[in-house]
Amino acid sequence: MTLLDVRGLTVTYPGGANAVRGVDLRLDAGRKLGVAGESGCGKSTLALALLRLLPAGTRVGGEILLDGEDVLAMKWGRVRAVRWAGASIVFQGAMHSLNPVRRVGDQIAEPVLLHRRATPAGARRRTGELLEQVGLPAARGSAYPHELSGGQRQRVMIAMALACGPRLIVADEPTTALDVMIQAQILRLIERLVTDQDVGLIMISHDLAVLAGTCDRLAVMYAGRVVEEGPARQVYEAAQHPYARALSAAFPRIGDPASRFAPRGLPGDPPDPSALPSGCAFHPRCPVVLDSCAVQDQALRPAGPHRHAACVRVTPEPSDPGEPGHPPPTTGDSPGSPRSTPAEGPGSPPQPTSTRGPMPGAGATPGEPGPQPGATAEGPGPRRHAGADGPGAEAGGTGGGVEEGFRRP
Ligand SMILES: Nc1ncnc2c1ncn2[C@@H]1O[C@H](COP(=O)(O)OP(=O)(O)O)[C@@H](O)[C@H]1O
Ligand code: SF4
Ligand SMILES: [Mg+2]
Repeated sequence: MTLLDVRGLTVTYPGGANAVRGVDLRLDAGRKLGVAGESGCGKSTLALALLRLLPAGTRVGGEILLDGEDVLAMKWGRVRAVRWAGASIVFQGAMHSLNPVRRVGDQIAEPVLLHRRATPAGARRRTGELLEQVGLPAARGSAYPHELSGGQRQRVMIAMALACGPRLIVADEPTTALDVMIQAQILRLIERLVTDQDVGLIMISHDLAVLAGTCDRLAVMYAGRVVEEGPARQVYEAAQHPYARALSAAFPRIGDPASRFAPRGLPGDPPDPSALPSGCAFHPRCPVVLDSCAVQDQALRPAGPHRHAACVRVTPEPSDPGEPGHPPPTTGDSPGSPRSTPAEGPGSPPQPTSTRGPMPGAGATPGEPGPQPGATAEGPGPRRHAGADGPGAEAGGTGGGVEEGFRRP
């Protein structure tokens, strides 16, 4: 059963930054989807949009169906109810997310009191249970955040996220600020809770290796779009999109001395989301760019069984069986789709006349037919101002299982 179904999500901040540009994804209960990408590619914006936590004046388009109900179309009271009980978020940096002058037990109890209408004694009991679920003694509820270690604080954040039994947990860089031992403990904890409680998990990180070790599927974002998605291990070990390959190569692999001594990086910076490059947004940094890439945008296309990538060099394998029962994800909209907008390019197939070198990896065949003209991921026009939600609204939940993340247009 599909827990979360995101369709053509677009987010534009008041200053004009197109932070999310037509993302589709789908998640089933009990599944784990990793979202990876460099800083600034729109991961946190995506997470905040799922819970309608974006600042006032932000334009949001598309649909976010949580158990079939569009979060973007909900009345404000319904949104508040869905947060926590439907879905919840674990933010990066627990020290900044917890109130420093309140005991952590009181902070965990607050949503239980508000959303479950528990008695004070019932909320205390539930708080103790939650702390024990995340591996802390119930008595630690009387501590202030500064009295806890970084790992303990992050456990408190996870206990808060679980407080009202959400169906979806969104974890935004939950281990980035932690040392490697504690990071492993927190990851195992999150994995266990997802399995035991059959919730869906969206885990966001810049660290592909962490996601590959934790999640079932992986989506790699660049400039507000998903540029590759598929089974987590396959995307990590044999990415097909040049950006996903570069991101993967940036992390040394255990047991591979070559990668340990010479991790490769990617020159240049991610583009400014208010002034994106034409065509494929990755083209100024792409090591295997074609002339056509500067004018021709790319949608996700089949890139092997249950895999998709948005690159002209990736060609569908004739034997690709597709995903029966799980339409492939795409961030791009096909021509004629209700969300489609004209391509940035002239609409003609790409002319692969020059390359900076062959693209290593399976499935990449320079000169193969290009993307469908007109495929962009811009989605429909902005449809509402997230500001109606009010800034600083409480972090609450949405939940969803990560399954075959994306849909065929
Ligand atoms: N409140 C905001 N107002 C304007 N631009 C923002 C805001 N928050 C994020 N951005 C911009 O949106 C882009 C995506 O940011 P973010 O979603 O935080 O990326 P990530 O989580 O992948 O690092 C960045 O260019 C960032 O500068
Ligand atoms: S080859 Fe072209 S389409 Fe593919 S990632 Fe590079 S610039 Fe983008
Ligand atoms: Mg972020």
